[in-house]
Amino acid sequence: MSELIDGKVISTQIKSEVKEKVAALNAKGVTVSLAVIQVGADPASSVYVRNKKKACEEVGIRSVAYELPETTTEKELLDLIDELNGRKDINGILVQLPLPKGMDEDKVTDAISPLKDVDGFHPVNVGKLSIGKRGFVSCTPAGVIELLKRSGVEISGKECVVIGRSNIVGKPMSMLLLRENGTVTVCHSRTADLKEVTKRADILVVAVGKPGMIDASYIKDGAVVIDVGIHRKEDGKLCGDVDFESASEVASKITPVPGGVGPMTIAMLMKNCAESVELQGLI
Ligand code: GUN
Repeated sequence: MSELIDGKVISTQIKSEVKEKVAALNAKGVTVSLAVIQVGADPASSVYVRNKKKACEEVGIRSVAYELPETTTEKELLDLIDELNGRKDINGILVQLPLPKGMDEDKVTDAISPLKDVDGFHPVNVGKLSIGKRGFVSCTPAGVIELLKRSGVEISGKECVVIGRSNIVGKPMSMLLLRENGTVTVCHSRTADLKEVTKRADILVVAVGKPGMIDASYIKDGAVVIDVGIHRKEDGKLCGDVDFESASEVASKITPVPGGVGPMTIAMLMKNCAESVELQGLI
């Protein structure tokens, strides 16, 4: 049986560190503010946005909510971002995705000032990550690195395999593992023999988007398995991309769903917000 990597415990730790940092900033007269923009009323997005606002309250970050109607035009959204980019009292700007049909997400993401892009989606921040410069890093993959480090998993010199190549998870994940001196392979839907590659992994990060797809037959004995997937089953319960029961028979350490990677994303968003004032040269 494998050891659980507890994202609830680790995310709570990170949030309490952020809370201390924010309090220290406040003591120096520096406040931290996050603008959260939601366009339309997608129910899943509403849950995420509510949780982000709640986390802000927990750590002492001021959140400013913009709940815009579905009928908002792209120009109106871009104008709001432009205004927030220029405001000294706003340190982070987050536009909850997905946006309603007809809006160009790339154009919207690119409009956010890279110095306020606490999601780490702006091409400038993606570029900085790839050349080893300081910038904002996408929260979910950054959270995976924290889970590994705080569970005592050595990354340096290890075979790291990432399944999935999305801009938000797979690609930044591979860059982060590389930055930690892992030997990194990225697999995707066109990978010829997926099992042959995943079976080499000491650290396997799964972000395929298919419920329960990765079972023990994909995993080397003793590997560390990180499950980024989250799906709601017909019975209402949550599951990941990894078949937990089967995988936990062979993995040495594994993240559960829920309670693994999920809570880390918001904790890392809070960490990025607290660091934004440094990147903006405010302290
Ligand atoms: N939608 C799903 N995940 C995310 C995220 O991490 N950030 C934003 N802005 N939207 C999302």
